[in-house]
Amino acid sequence: MSISIPQLPKGTRDFYPEAQRIQNYIFDTWRKTAESFAYEEYEGPMFEHLELYTGKSGEEIVSQLYNFKDKGDREIALRPEMTPTLARLVIQKARELKKPFKWFSMPRLFRYEKAQKGRLREFFQLNMDIIGTESIYAEADLMAAIATMLRKFGLKDGEFAIGVSSRKLLATYLEEIGAPNPALVYPVLDRRLKIGPEAFAKALADAGLTEEQVKKLDDFMSCKSIEEVRNAVKSENAAAALKEIEDLFETLAAAGYGDCVNLDLSIVRGLAYYTGIVFEVFDKGKSMRAIAGGGRYDSLTEKLGGERIPGVGFGMGDVVLADLLAEHNLLPNPKQSVDFYIASFTNDMKKVFETAQVFRANGNAVSHPLAAMKMGKQLDQANYQGAKIVVYVDGSKAGEGEFEYKDMRTGEMFVGNVSAIVERL
Ligand code: HAM
Repeated sequence: MSISIPQLPKGTRDFYPEAQRIQNYIFDTWRKTAESFAYEEYEGPMFEHLELYTGKSGEEIVSQLYNFKDKGDREIALRPEMTPTLARLVIQKARELKKPFKWFSMPRLFRYEKAQKGRLREFFQLNMDIIGTESIYAEADLMAAIATMLRKFGLKDGEFAIGVSSRKLLATYLEEIGAPNPALVYPVLDRRLKIGPEAFAKALADAGLTEEQVKKLDDFMSCKSIEEVRNAVKSENAAAALKEIEDLFETLAAAGYGDCVNLDLSIVRGLAYYTGIVFEVFDKGKSMRAIAGGGRYDSLTEKLGGERIPGVGFGMGDVVLADLLAEHNLLPNPKQSVDFYIASFTNDMKKVFETAQVFRANGNAVSHPLAAMKMGKQLDQANYQGAKIVVYVDGSKAGEGEFEYKDMRTGEMFVGNVSAIVERL
């Protein structure tokens, strides 16, 4: 009988150390940028009660849930996104949390997606959110952070774009043309460019729109400038929504990010909870799936049973980002690196372990052989582990507290005590 070897589940990844080092580079850049914008890190559980998602996040994401009944007969779902968890955290401490506040997280998420480029069933997603303010400068802060981060990864302005739209604006336009319930229309609008004009018109007709309304909506969503939109909409609400976008763009331009953002009314977003500005980040030419997406959700806490606390934020996945960086040759290839390798000519393992501890107590990363082996083998190991200095525990001066050591970067040999060796790093 043949036994088949275990297989990797579809849509998941293994991270061998080589891949994990690249992943850590992405995580480090995410974390450093978020911290440089004064966001604080938080976490939550990887699974939640199913009802946190049903009815609030939108049909698509709910259809992709990994859910099950636990042994206590509770309906549980692996988290497909972080925003509902964040909202739950906010509601639980609504009084204590000093608002506004800026938080970030880098959760592992699960969605039962059709396997395709840029979309997996398990992935990581940087989330940055600002809670407790309705000010458009919160959006400006988030978008400045996105642009800063993508530049830090090595992308140039023009190689990515943050497309900005507004559900408030769309809602007022839908009202102006007398279209029915926006909640039914948004999911169709979100698919507009994916499904093509005919299917789009049919889906809107099914949602109750007339041919003329569909035509108007299609024209509206093709507007490329604030001027064009201003000519198309008349209501005061629309003017206010437009003014907000103008303010946002001018602020970002003042901070040096003017070339990173543009008006893109074709962006609607699939999630149900957005109420204001919505945005998506794409590579130039939109040849890949979205790198990031987000928006304002001023009534999510209320929908979940808490008081109304406004919020805005985005999620940036690791998958499309890594694909894009790879395409631009921007992914580093970091090697393993340790500070010291403790070697012994006589395979005196007790002395090796003892000396390794001295350097570790000093805060250094230390490796050494795990079995008796010739010096040539030990040096090979030191080499491929990226040791900067090899310390020989049984050199002629070992009794006097001094060691012979070799700087692997220059090949030079020295003799000295622990502090001299550490100094050499
Ligand atoms: P989302 O548009 O569903 O938004 O996801 C945001 C980003 O996560 C996408 O642009 C993509 O980079 C990545 N992503 C989504 N699904 C997958 C997948 N199956 N495989 C790989 N990457 C994926 C949200 O999740 C919102 N909760 C974001 C947010 C935060 N809104 C406000 N705050």
